[in-house]
Amino acid sequence: MSAPGLVSLVGAGPGDPDLLTRRAAQRLAEADLVLYDALVSPATLALATRAQRFYVGKRCKNHAMAQETIHRLMVRAARRGCRVVRLKGGDPFVFGRGAEEALALQAAGVPFEVVPGVSSALAAPALAGIPVTHRGVAAAFTVVSGHDAATWQPIVDALRPGSSTLVVLMGLGSRAAIAAALQARGWAASTPCAVLLGASTPEAATWTGTLDRLGEAPIPEGAADAPGTLVVGEVVAVGDRLSGRTPSEEPAAVTAAGAARRHSWQR
Ligand SMILES: C[S@@+](CC[C@H](N)C(=O)[O-])C[C@H]1O[C@@H](n2cnc3c(N)ncnc32)[C@H](O)[C@@H]1O
Repeated sequence: MSAPGLVSLVGAGPGDPDLLTRRAAQRLAEADLVLYDALVSPATLALATRAQRFYVGKRCKNHAMAQETIHRLMVRAARRGCRVVRLKGGDPFVFGRGAEEALALQAAGVPFEVVPGVSSALAAPALAGIPVTHRGVAAAFTVVSGHDAATWQPIVDALRPGSSTLVVLMGLGSRAAIAAALQARGWAASTPCAVLLGASTPEAATWTGTLDRLGEAPIPEGAADAPGTLVVGEVVAVGDRLSGRTPSEEPAAVTAAGAARRHSWQR
C-alpha cells in the first residue's frame, strides 16, 4: 500500500445504518480494516464491503480484546498504510474510550480523525418522541453513566430536582438505585421516566412511567441483552403526548404488545 494510513474513529449511531453520517458511510466503504464494538449492527458493518472486520468489543465484563491490544492493532495497520475504521456505537467520544484511543494514536504519531456519530443519549429519547430540552419544561440535560455509583451519585446529588433532564447510559442495572437517589434528593415520585431499549433497532421497546416505579420497570422477555437508556424528567410526558402514549395511574401491566398507557412497554 502506498498512500499513508489513517485511522478514523467513527461513530456508528444507535444501530440503524440510516442514522450514520455520510462521512461514516464513506469511511466504511473505503476501509481496509474495521475494528468494531459490541453495539454495532450487522447492517452497518455490511457497508464495509472491502474491509477485514474484527470484533474487539466489550460488554459488561466480557472484553474481546485488551485496550492496549486495540491500540497496537490500529497503529500497526496504519503504519502499513491501511485505512482503518475504529467503529464505535453512538458517538466515539461519549463513554466510548474514543479519546483514549485518539491519545494513543497521537502518541504513536499515527494520523487519525474523529467522525462524530449520533449518540444514543440523544437518539434514543428522540426516537421515542422525547425532546431532551423543551421550552418551559427543561432548559438543560445531563448525561451520566449508570455503570458505577461512584461516578453517577455525586452528579445526581448535585442536581436540583427538575433542574435538568437526566439521561443515563449503561444504567439499566442501576435503575432502582438511581430512582432511589433522585427521590432522596427531593425529586417527586411522580416525575415521568422512560426506559428505552434497542432504540432504532427492530427490538426497540419503550417503557414510560414514574420515578417511584422506575426501579420495578421489568425488562421484556428476550430483551435482557438489549442496550438501554433511561430518561428522567417532565420531557418524558411531552414524549408521551407526541407519541400517543396515554398516561395512566395504573401500576405496570407489561405485555409484549404493550398496551397504550403509562407504565407499559410499547414497540
Ligand atoms: C458504552 S456506552 C457507549 C455510548 C455511545 N458511545 C453513544 O454515544 O451512544 C453504551 C450504552 O449506550 C446506550 N445505548 C447504545 N445503543 C443504544 C440503543 N440502540 N438504544 C438505547 N440505548 C443505547 C446504552 O445505555 C448502552 O449501555
